[in-house]
Amino acid sequence: MVDATAAALSHTFYATATVLRLRFLFLLLILGSCAYDNAEDIAGPAPECTPPAEVSYVQHITPLLNRNCYACHNSALQSGNVNLQDFGQLQQQARSGVLLGNVKHLPGYKPMPQGGAKLSDCDIALLQRWVEAGTPNN
Ligand code: HEC
Repeated sequence: MVDATAAALSHTFYATATVLRLRFLFLLLILGSCAYDNAEDIAGPAPECTPPAEVSYVQHITPLLNRNCYACHNSALQSGNVNLQDFGQLQQQARSGVLLGNVKHLPGYKPMPQGGAKLSDCDIALLQRWVEAGTPNN
């Protein structure tokens, strides 16, 4: 009789432990999937990488330079004696091939943005299109 009770008790104990273990695993699963969702939320969808048929200086190039270059190459600082806010200077750097050489980090050029991460392939493609179109002031 005592043995039967002990056996029943120990059976209950193991059953409870198994349920707890399963709950714990389930919790891990939920937490794991949350962490994954969050990582995706933070990274966001991959940026679209189709340069527009006609690249516009005002619509596309100016915002790109504003995000990545004007902090140093503005009319006040003119880092490296270059003011990219000045269209004439920008055009000169673009037409000589220096602008693309720098942003593509080609050997022999000065990698830009200085001290920062390389531009995305999309941004580089956008600049390249604009240069190939003859650096229009459009
Ligand atoms: C943190 C400041 C900083 C940022 C941001 C920056 N530059 Fe520069 N840039 C410099 C400095 C400093 C020099 C001069 C470097 C030298 O002469 O060694 C320079 C030089 C240049 C030159 C002329 C140098 C040469 O090769 O003759 C160009 C063109 C240029 N940068 C383009 C860019 C472009 C395009 C961006 C944005 C994609 C950019 N830079 C972002 C600091 C910066």
